[in-house]
Amino acid sequence: ASSSGCSSPPKLAKKSHYRVGFSQQVNNAPWRIAETTSVQEEASRRGDTVIYTDAQNSDSKQVSDIQSIIAQHPDVLLIAPLTEDGEVSAIKQAAAACIPVILLDRDANHSKVTPGKDYITFIGSDFVREGQRVAQHLIQKTNGKAKIIELQGTTGSSPAINRTKGFEDEIQSHSGMQIIARQDANFDRATGLKTMQTLLQSHPEVTAVYAENDEMALGAIDALKAAGKKPGKDVLVASIDGENAALQAVQNGEETIVVQCNPRLGPIAFDTIDKYANGTVPQQWVVQQDNQYTADNITDALSKGAGF
Ligand code: AHR
Repeated sequence: ASSSGCSSPPKLAKKSHYRVGFSQQVNNAPWRIAETTSVQEEASRRGDTVIYTDAQNSDSKQVSDIQSIIAQHPDVLLIAPLTEDGEVSAIKQAAAACIPVILLDRDANHSKVTPGKDYITFIGSDFVREGQRVAQHLIQKTNGKAKIIELQGTTGSSPAINRTKGFEDEIQSHSGMQIIARQDANFDRATGLKTMQTLLQSHPEVTAVYAENDEMALGAIDALKAAGKKPGKDVLVASIDGENAALQAVQNGEETIVVQCNPRLGPIAFDTIDKYANGTVPQQWVVQQDNQYTADNITDALSKGAGF
C-alpha cells in the first residue's frame, strides 16, 4: 500500500461511466491528433467523460497539467508522457492521490517508476522492433551498403531511445551500413527539414535517411529535393508512423518503407480500464500491433484507409 493508504497501483471502482483524465504531450501533427481523436471517440462511444490537457511539447507544462487533472479527481488517468524522466514526479503524485494511471503510447523510465506498481501498465508499440524493421528493410534494399543520416526523435523520449536502439543494434553486424550523421529533429517536420538541410551540406555522400517518424522524413524529402537530389533514387528514405502523406510517399516511390506505429489506442485503453475495474490486472506492457508499408502492399493498404 502507498503512504496514502491505497494499494499500489490504486484500485478502480467499477462504474457504468468513468471520468478519465488524459494528459497529451502535444497535439500538433497527424499522429498525435489521431491518438487524441481515438481516445475522445472511444470515450464518447461509451458515455465516459474526458478531462483533456495538451502540454504543448513541454515537460514542465505536462507536470502542471497532470497536477491540475489530479485536483479534479478523475477515476483514472491516461498519460502520454513527453519524455521518460520528465513526468515521473507527476506519475508518483497521481498514485499518491489514489488515482490509477495508465501510460499511453510512450513509457517512462523503469529505474524511476515501475509498471504494476506506480502505474497500471504501458499501452503502446514495440519501438525497438519498429527500428529493427526499418534496418532489416534497408539492409535488404542496399545489399548491406549505405551511408545513413539518422534523424532522431525527441531526446529522452521512449520512442527515440528505443527506435535508435532497434535500428543501430540491427545494422551493427553489417559493416557496410554506416551512420554518417545522427541528430535530434524533435519528431517535427520543420525541424527535420532544417536539420537535413544542414546535414546535407556536410554529408552530400548520403545514400539513405532513417527518420524516426514520418513528419521528419517528409521534411527531409523537401530538403533533398531542394538540394537537387531525388528521394527514392539518389537517397532512400525510410520512416515510422503511417500517416497519409508518408503512405503517399511510399506510393510515389519517394519513401522505400514506412513502418506503422498505430496511434488508434482509444479502444485498447478503455478495454484495459474496464478489465482493471473488473479485477483483472493487465500485463505490465500491453503491446499495440503494427504493420509495415512498402511498394509491395501500399496500393492495398491505401484502398483500405490504412493512413491517418
Ligand atoms: O510516441 C509515438 C511517436 O510520437 C510517434 O512516432 C510520433 O509521430 C509521435 O510524436
